[in-house]
Amino acid sequence: MRRSRKTDWMRRLVRENSLSSNDFILPIFVTEGKNKKIPIKTMPEVFRYSVDKLGQIVDRALKLKIPMVAIFPQTNSGLKDSYGSEALNENNLVCKAIRKIKDKYKNEIGIMTDVALDPYTSHGHDGILRNKRILNDETIEILIQQSLLQAQMGSDVIAPSDMMDGRIGEIRQELDNNSLKDIKILSYAVKYASSFYGPFRDAVGSKKSLKGDKKTYQMDFSNSEEALREVALDIKEGADLVMVKPGLPYLDIIKKVKENFKIPVLAYQVSGEYSLLMNGINKGLISENSIYETLMSFKRAGANAIISYFADRIDKIIKN
Ligand code: PBG
Repeated sequence: MRRSRKTDWMRRLVRENSLSSNDFILPIFVTEGKNKKIPIKTMPEVFRYSVDKLGQIVDRALKLKIPMVAIFPQTNSGLKDSYGSEALNENNLVCKAIRKIKDKYKNEIGIMTDVALDPYTSHGHDGILRNKRILNDETIEILIQQSLLQAQMGSDVIAPSDMMDGRIGEIRQELDNNSLKDIKILSYAVKYASSFYGPFRDAVGSKKSLKGDKKTYQMDFSNSEEALREVALDIKEGADLVMVKPGLPYLDIIKKVKENFKIPVLAYQVSGEYSLLMNGINKGLISENSIYETLMSFKRAGANAIISYFADRIDKIIKN
């Protein structure tokens, strides 16, 4: 076996997978105010941008030829309530960010927006909470409106991350009924109730408010066959792309989904994965090459694209 590993040119010749900026989606956090670029303590080298400063990071994505950015808002706690009403405000942070990016960049770069109530609810859950239960169908009524609003503002890809049952079909129907047939749906079809979302909840400010856990709607991490049922349902309901989340602890799921369904599969390298790598590197425990190695594992597993907080540095990561 070592004959083919002897020289760099030979290794390149037999290499089975590769990475390019086309494989990435860059998540961007937005915050209120003007002229702001605020570091996120738990996520080294990731920032929250005010809407007027978004150009800085979107320019970077465009320069790197990253196909799409994903917008996540940090909502002021004063705007949160038990129904997440701010989600339906056409002047909320996400809507302002979509309009700003669309206006400036037209169709040069794709915009993806998260559909779920957790950035807007006082209890930090993705749906409506009553008597300690998350209500599925009542939540969907709001998610439909949230999706429609985001699409009308100019979002290209609607990405429900809430894990309510049946929402993909209802959102698809609503978009179609409103002449928004070209708007794509990326379903967070397989989203596990994971401990790896901590830094993200910190970044969007839902960590302190979150009461309890999300185990009644997000998936049990002991299961993999159930993931295939989730994907099958969402495809039937009209999803164009499906996501597996988190990434690294679920490479087996990415592979299984890809083997069973011929649909684009995306991996989300979530905040906890990002921060573990960054902290390990910053402490000198592992080398920076661990980033490239980790990202390549998603490709090996069969992911078509990766949502990663490293995306804005992907040129350096690939070059090294
Ligand atoms: C919320 C949402 C979460 C993430 C993306 N959308 C957090 C959660 O479900 O609690 C996590 C992303 C990350 O950790 O990087 N619907």
